[in-house]
Amino acid sequence: LTGRTILITGGAGFIGSHIADALTTDNDVTVLDDLSSGSRENVPDGATFIEGDVRDDDTLKNAAADADVIFHEAAIVSVQQSIDQPQRCQDVNLTGTLAVLEAARREDARVVFASSAAIYGEPTGVPIDEAEPTAPASPYGIDKCAADQYVRTYHDLYGLDTVALRYFNVYGPGQTGGDYSGVISIFREQALTGDPITVDGDGSQTRDFVHVEDVVRANLLAATTDAVGTAYNIGTGTETSIQTLAETVQSIADTDSPIVHGEPRPGDIDRSCADVTRAREQLGYEPKISLEEGLRTLF
Ligand code: UD1
Repeated sequence: LTGRTILITGGAGFIGSHIADALTTDNDVTVLDDLSSGSRENVPDGATFIEGDVRDDDTLKNAAADADVIFHEAAIVSVQQSIDQPQRCQDVNLTGTLAVLEAARREDARVVFASSAAIYGEPTGVPIDEAEPTAPASPYGIDKCAADQYVRTYHDLYGLDTVALRYFNVYGPGQTGGDYSGVISIFREQALTGDPITVDGDGSQTRDFVHVEDVVRANLLAATTDAVGTAYNIGTGTETSIQTLAETVQSIADTDSPIVHGEPRPGDIDRSCADVTRAREQLGYEPKISLEEGLRTLF
């Protein structure tokens, strides 16, 4: 991607800032972020930074001016936080996405949307392809599911170029810890400080962990593909249990942290793993970084 005007919402956050890093040299990049979970230092030099909320009309209008492509990464990313604050999650994740789609319609900009595997809820089987029925099991999953449908509908109704990327469990450098963060950044912090590694339930639940650099490449492919108006699973196709993850982190970190088991998380999904055939065939997406390799770079 070169010579384009690009808006990245959530561009000071974990995934958005990696997309910004990949695009800023050759494009005119604007980052819009309210810094609720992202930080100013994540925004690369050379990108224009606007601090603000995607739900604020004037701010969004200004940030989206002349955009060719909008990567919409701004969101509340935690399933647990959505259970604690369902209304706030809907406001940010659903109403915020609708506002971005309207801005894109004004500018005739392409939208690449950060959708989620959480829209599938507990799948009928794994690996999960895009024809899997959606059955979200959390407010977060419901909001991402509705937003994913809006994104497709804006293609069908208004002819907008839109793509939804259904991220599985993204991890990598820059993912910050804290209660509402992803399990890998939580385990990493626990291993580094020597605190117990806290597995929810018996740890038999599985996820498909995909490195943020693979996710960035999927976004770049989605920005130029002709295969728009649809959704793509973005994962690796490898299923890993949380217990195995905890043991792998323990061994790579070479830590004294014990593994402890707590209550299972209410509404937690038991199995998740992507079938990425559609992304492979239509986008040319190929996941390159194995979990073991990706984890090693974090220690
Ligand atoms: C994650 C993402 C979400 C994304 C979705 C796609 C985060 C915070 N959430 O949700 O944005 O859309 O994947 O599938 O990045 N666990 C523990 N101990 C802990 C923390 C978590 O055992 O200390 C377990 C959880 O119970 C769960 C698993 O790890 O079974 C993954 O949890 P989490 O990292 O919060 O991710 P998801 O809920 O899958």
